[in-house]
Amino acid sequence: MRPGQLLARHRKEDSVISRSTHSAPGIPPLVPGGFPLVGHAFSLAGGSRRLGFMESVRAHGPIVRFKVGPRDVVVVNSPELIHEMLTTLADEFSKGLLFEKLKLFGKDALPIAEGKPHLRRRRLMQPAFHRQQIAGYVDTMRETVQPYVAAWDGGTSLDLKTEMQLIAQSVVMSALFSATPPRDPAYTILNSVDTVFRTAIKRALLPSSVLERLPTRSNRKAQAASSALRAEVADIIAEHRAHPDAYDDIVSLLLTARDESGEALPDDEILSEIVALLAAGSETTAVTLAWLFHELGRNPDLERRLHEEVDSVIGGDVLTADHLGQLPYTGRLVQESLRLYAPWLVTRQAISDVQLGAFTLPAGSDVIWSAYALHRDPDLYPDPLRFDPDRWLPERPQPPKGAFIPFGFGKRMCIGDMFALTEASVITALIALKWKLKPELGAVKALGEITTHPSQLRMIPHPRDR
Ligand code: HEM
Repeated sequence: MRPGQLLARHRKEDSVISRSTHSAPGIPPLVPGGFPLVGHAFSLAGGSRRLGFMESVRAHGPIVRFKVGPRDVVVVNSPELIHEMLTTLADEFSKGLLFEKLKLFGKDALPIAEGKPHLRRRRLMQPAFHRQQIAGYVDTMRETVQPYVAAWDGGTSLDLKTEMQLIAQSVVMSALFSATPPRDPAYTILNSVDTVFRTAIKRALLPSSVLERLPTRSNRKAQAASSALRAEVADIIAEHRAHPDAYDDIVSLLLTARDESGEALPDDEILSEIVALLAAGSETTAVTLAWLFHELGRNPDLERRLHEEVDSVIGGDVLTADHLGQLPYTGRLVQESLRLYAPWLVTRQAISDVQLGAFTLPAGSDVIWSAYALHRDPDLYPDPLRFDPDRWLPERPQPPKGAFIPFGFGKRMCIGDMFALTEASVITALIALKWKLKPELGAVKALGEITTHPSQLRMIPHPRDR
């Protein structure tokens, strides 16, 4: 059967999802190009190769399989099936390999916890992420971002990815933990988060988990990074404990929470939760913004329209939550950056045998889905590689349900989606009011790291004359 035929047949069957019986109708087709013993490990070895590989497997069907060493990894490509997996079938899957490796951040934290403990923790933290609450963070966001942006030196090259990481990390810390670390401790946190992320992604994609238990230099470095991170964050908790009345934020929420038996959360768990929020909330927003300014740097017309919008809506005023609803073009730029540079890898593992589309996935199957690859599918997005914020204009045809999932979907959907969207608009507008960012020479490649990173991104800020 040709790949095209397989795709056509399964597209019809995509909606046929049910709990498994043991009558397995078949296993997903194996993607060609693997090697004996290592399987497709070479295709996952480098950051840009990984992304190309994830896009290429789409051609082989709505559900396919590749090998990492002896292990099968199932890739779900169709938006309908990803949606089913994350909603109707969500209880059939645990978070899987990547999140298992992210336990270096702490084993109980929200992105990693499973079942009832996850639900309880999610309910507890949800109020800090309500829409109304988010609007209340805008002033803090502005006050955190402005000093960074004001300190840029016109004409001097910036490492924009690092700068965005520092800014996004400070925003999470100031808005959610009422903490604003000076630049040096902020770098320590950033480097520790980066090290843990890099280790987790490498371990998730390695053919063997034996290596990660050896006391190698890189394993010791990852452990040290995890400890350094926890030590930095412990100070924030100690300060909240010492002055409980001075704070009303997510740390206070966790400190005052009681479980069903009236017990407070153990300090260790609170620490894990804060560390995980910091990690989950900084890197993702930072790279989205780095890509947004990369695209503006090579599309002066798009940059001009952004400047026109922020000048006319905000001008010389202080940016507030009220302005954000009047910045639709800024919102579309953020949305388009989230489409084109979405997270490339999210994992799951089947808890029991489960039928997905035409296939039965046996219990224990490692499963992945890629918003990055999905968002570049020409069947879902016309001219998918073009950065076109206007594709989100309401009068233009919109992608089908389930085809835009930068934050995932269902009960494990990103808790910080509104926070991230608000923060991204605030940062974009504050930069655009003051600076034009010009690209430095040098190719910028997309890399599949913990999320989709620019290989290197140096840009030169030039003050705007308005
Ligand atoms: C552009 C920015 C962001 C992107 C693209 C993003 C994306 C994601 C994705 C794909 C997931 C996993 C979904 C899954 O496993 O099905 C996730 C989970 C999560 N994110 Fe985000 N995220 C962003 C910003 C944030 C922010 C700002 C925060 C917090 C301040 C945050 C906190 C979390 C948490 C706690 C989880 C785990 C939720 C759970 O399992 O209940 N994220 N995010």
